[in-house]
Amino acid sequence: MRRPVRIAITGSAGSIASNLLFKIAAGEMMGKDQPVILQLIEVPQAMEALRGIAMELEDCAYPLLHTITLHDNVEEGFSNAHYALLIGARPRGPGMERRDLLEVNAEIFSRQGKALNEHANRDVKVLVVGNPANTNALIASRNAPDLSPSQFTCLTRLDQNRARGILATQTGANPRDIARVIIWGNHSPTQYPDLSHATIHGHPAMDEISQDWYADEYIPQVQNRGGDIIKARGVSSAPSAAQAITDHMRDWCLGTEPGEFVSMGIVSDGSYGIEKGIIYSYPVRCNYGRYQIIQGLEISDFSRERMKKTEQELLDEMAVIEHLLPKDTADSHKNLSIRLRSGQTVTLYSDNAGPDGKSLYSETDRVL
Ligand SMILES: NC(=O)c1ccc[n+]([C@@H]2O[C@H](COP(=O)([O-])OP(=O)(O)OC[C@H]3O[C@@H](n4cnc5c(N)ncnc54)[C@H](O)[C@@H]3O)[C@@H](O)[C@H]2O)c1
Repeated sequence: MRRPVRIAITGSAGSIASNLLFKIAAGEMMGKDQPVILQLIEVPQAMEALRGIAMELEDCAYPLLHTITLHDNVEEGFSNAHYALLIGARPRGPGMERRDLLEVNAEIFSRQGKALNEHANRDVKVLVVGNPANTNALIASRNAPDLSPSQFTCLTRLDQNRARGILATQTGANPRDIARVIIWGNHSPTQYPDLSHATIHGHPAMDEISQDWYADEYIPQVQNRGGDIIKARGVSSAPSAAQAITDHMRDWCLGTEPGEFVSMGIVSDGSYGIEKGIIYSYPVRCNYGRYQIIQGLEISDFSRERMKKTEQELLDEMAVIEHLLPKDTADSHKNLSIRLRSGQTVTLYSDNAGPDGKSLYSETDRVL
């Protein structure tokens, strides 16, 4: 049996986690041979509900569930974590402006970034789910000076799964036979679900659908799916979010299917002309626990316009919370570096703009 890994999860008594924890304990995320220690974190008022969830987990008698620990603070909860799933966030309350929502979450995620920096395993992999997910991930990452920005991601896999599912329904294909659907940008209604490179049974997906349906119905449907679910159910998507979190982490840790792309919110290195240093959803492939942006995709004017629109929204969000971002991590987010096992730091630039003589310079695609 392998050694157990520590997975810290905030918002553990919430709707998404109530679906997710059981999938993790059953081995759906980290593999059927990987024991897990769940470090469950909640706000103090929700600790009783969390105790109830822990009892239910225990009652499932999962062979892979090594230990459950409960925490009412992130400093303890993140201790030695190999993985951190940041799901808890402050929802938008009545009369709350977008700016207030960004600022109140900025406080929560600054503290979480600092706590990860101080207490988590040095190789921790972080997934931010709580909204506004991209900007919250940026705040956490900017507050963790000793971790690499490449250790922070945000969830856009739910959007990718939605895009695949809706296309499958329209064309009659099995979702399994649909590949290379891309989500660019923000996890918000400005996201761009891009089918230009998607295939169905290996053939271009765009040959199976009309451009009018794609532009006028499909794109808005994917973009607004979260809101439509809230309208229909009265609560936000939880089982599908739990599935997407499982997919995101499994692919990041265990690798993507050969030939497939998946979309992840990651710190931009300037690829495809997107501003460096923001958390933007890109198509990536993963191997050995690292992700690599898919390079060289042809971008049409139609796509470029939409990729820029969602980039602008992220820049606007960053402008609102800029005063809360530590200045000393700005450079590390624009000049991405990785530390090799030898202890050497290598800085990789996607735009071929090497910085100074001190850094090693690689012309390969960025591997993080
Ligand atoms: N990125 C995505 O694709 C995606 C998809 C669906 C939902 N979401 C977001 O995920 C978040 C959680 O959704 P949910 O349906 O589980 O919400 P929920 O309200 O059911 O649960 C959230 C839980 O987080 C806890 N919490 C709040 N602040 C916390 C903190 N600072 N530390 C620890 N715990 C904290 C709350 O007590 C609550 O139990 C929301 O922000 C939602 O908008 C994101």
